[in-house]
Amino acid sequence: MLKLDQEVVGLDNFATGHRRSRDAVSSCVTPAQWARFSLIEGDIRHAADCQNAVKGVTHVLHQAALGSVPRSLHDPITTDAVNIGGFLNMLVASRDEKVSSFTYAASSST
Ligand SMILES: NC(=O)c1ccc[n+]([C@@H]2O[C@H](COP(=O)([O-])OP(=O)(O)OC[C@H]3O[C@@H](n4cnc5c(N)ncnc54)[C@H](O)[C@@H]3O)[C@@H](O)[C@H]2O)c1
Repeated sequence: MLKLDQEVVGLDNFATGHRRSRDAVSSCVTPAQWARFSLIEGDIRHAADCQNAVKGVTHVLHQAALGSVPRSLHDPITTDAVNIGGFLNMLVASRDEKVSSFTYAASSST
C-alpha cells in the first residue's frame, strides 16, 4: 500500500508481532512513502484504540489476531477477547467511521 502512495495506519500491541518488521517494510519504500505510515501501539480489545486507528480511514484490513489453536485451547479467554471481542471492536469502530470496506483475515483459532 505504501508503494502505491497510500496513507497507512497500523495498530498493533506486539503481542506476537515484531517491531523489526517495520524496518523490513521501511527498507522497501522511499522515504516519502515511509512518511505516509504511522503506527499506533494499542490493543484491539480497547474500543478507544480501535476508534483512534480508524479515524479518517477509508479501508480497514483487519489482520490482528492471536493465532494457534493450541493457544486457544490453553487460554480460551484471551483468544476469545482478542479474536472475537477485538474483531467486534474493530467492526463497530469501522461502522461508526463509515469506512468504505472492511477486510477480515479470519483465524482458525477463533
Ligand atoms: N499466517 C497464516 O498462515 C494464517 C492462516 C490463516 C489465517 N491467518 C490470519 O491472518 C491474519 C494475519 O496473520 P499473520 O500470520 O500475519 O499473523 P501474525 O501473528 O504475524 O500477526 C498478527 C498481529 O496481530 C497482533 N495482535 C495480536 N493481538 C493483538 C491485539 N490484542 N491488539 C492489537 N494487535 C494484536 C500481533 O502482535 C501481530 O503483529 C491473522 O488474523 C491470522 O489469524 C493467518
